[in-house]
Amino acid sequence: MARKGSSRFLCWVAVLGMASALILYKAKVLVMEEEEEEGTGGGKEELLERESRGGEGRIDFAQKEISVSSTSGSFPLTKDSLINLDHGDPTMFESFWRGMGDQASILIQGWDTMSYFSDVTNICWFLEPEFGKEIRRLHKLVGNAVTEGRHIIVGTGSTQLYQAALYALSPSDAPEPMNVVSAVPYYSSYSAITDYLRSGLFRWAGDAYKFKGGSHIEIVCTPNNPDGFKMQPVLNSEDGKLIYDMAYYWPHYTAITGLADHDIMLFTVSKSTGHAGTRLGWAVVKDPEVAKRMNKFIELNTIGVSKDSQLRAAKILKVISDGYELPNSEPAAKLFDYGRRILAERWEKLREAAETNGVFSLPVYPSETCNFYGEETTAHPGFAWMKCEKEGVEDCEEFLKGHKIIARNGKHFGVDSKYVRVSMLDRCETFEVFVHRLASIH
Ligand SMILES: Cc1ncc(COP(=O)(O)O)c(C=O)c1O
Repeated sequence: MARKGSSRFLCWVAVLGMASALILYKAKVLVMEEEEEEGTGGGKEELLERESRGGEGRIDFAQKEISVSSTSGSFPLTKDSLINLDHGDPTMFESFWRGMGDQASILIQGWDTMSYFSDVTNICWFLEPEFGKEIRRLHKLVGNAVTEGRHIIVGTGSTQLYQAALYALSPSDAPEPMNVVSAVPYYSSYSAITDYLRSGLFRWAGDAYKFKGGSHIEIVCTPNNPDGFKMQPVLNSEDGKLIYDMAYYWPHYTAITGLADHDIMLFTVSKSTGHAGTRLGWAVVKDPEVAKRMNKFIELNTIGVSKDSQLRAAKILKVISDGYELPNSEPAAKLFDYGRRILAERWEKLREAAETNGVFSLPVYPSETCNFYGEETTAHPGFAWMKCEKEGVEDCEEFLKGHKIIARNGKHFGVDSKYVRVSMLDRCETFEVFVHRLASIH
C-alpha cells in the first residue's frame, strides 16, 4: 500500500515537473520572441530548427566529447520531439529525491563554510570530515570497496580526480610523457581530458589492447562505460600503473560481487546518488605518497573543493545509509532499490523494443550473485550500448538522428560507427518517448 501511495505521489510530482518544464519552455520562447523583436537573440525559429537538426548548433569542446546542445537536460515536449540521450545526465533520480521531501535538505548560513580549510590534520585538508565519514559508511554498507586504512581524496567530480591521478602517477622528470591507455570501448571523455592541455607529463595512447609496451597508466573502468561489463586490466606489466574508475559499481547498476581493494579507485555522486550538478567525486587511495600528490594537484588546480557541496553530499549519503540502516525506514527511502527497479523495468522495455524492430542488438549480461541483495542478478547499466544490425546502415548515430534521437557515436569510444551509446538515466517521460519511438523504427 505504502509503495502504491508513494508511486502515485511520484507520478503527480512527475506531472507537476513536466508542467513546470512546459511553462519554462514557453517562457523561454516568449523571451526569444522579445529578443527577436529587439534583434538580440537567436530566435524561436532557430531554437526549433536547431532542435530538429539534432542540436547541430551545439557548442563543441575538446573534440566534441563534452558537447552541450539546446536539448541537453530538457523534457521532450511532445511524443515527436527530439530526444537527447547523448549524456549520462542522471535525472532519473530526481523523482526519488522529490519523494524524500526535505529529508536531504540542508541549511547553510551566511557565515558557514568560509575558510579554505576543513581538517588540517588530514592529507586531504579540504575534505569535510562529515563527508569523509559518510563515504566510508556507505562503502561499508554496500560492501563495494575497502576504505579502512585508505586515504579519501575529494574532487570536483571524479573528472578532476582522474586528472589528479594522472598527475600523481606520472614522474615529473621522465624524458617522455607517460602513455595513458584504456581497453576499447573506453569512456569517451578519457582521451579528451588527458590531452586537452597537451601536458608534458602524460598523453593519451588509446586502446590498451593495441599498446606496444613501455611505461603506461591503464584506466580500468568497471563496470565499463559504455558497455556495462565488469573489466580487468588488459596490460599486466611491471611498467604499468592502474587507475580504477568505479563510478558504476553500485547495486542499482550491477551485482556487488566483492570488496574492491585497488590502489586508486574513483567514485562519484553523479552516478551513485544522481547529484551530477553537485560536482563531487572521491578517490580511495592506498599509498599515502600518491594521495599527497593527488591532493597537490587539487591544491594547484582549484585550492580544494566546494565545502557547500560536500556538506550537501554528506547529508545525501547519510540519508541513503539511514534508508537501509534505520530499523523503521520506509521502502521508499531505499535509493538502490528504487534505481534497480527503474533500471530493470527500462532494460526490459528496451530489449522488447529491440526485439520488435530487429534493427538493434544489445549486450547480454551474465547472472551473478549480488552480495548486497543476497540474490542472483544481471546488470542493468546506466547506458545502452547498441549495435545497428540493419543492412546498409554504417553510422548508427546518423540513423538515429533521422528518427530524432541523439546518441553518442561508437567512434568516440574507440570502435566503429555501427555502435552508439544511449543514456538510460534520463527522466521517465524521456525514456518512454525514446523506447516507443525505437520500437517503431524498421
Ligand atoms: C566512467 C565515468 N567516470 C567518470 C565520470 C565523470 O563523473 P563526474 O560527474 O564525477 O565528473 C563519468 C560520467 O559520465 C563516467 O561515466
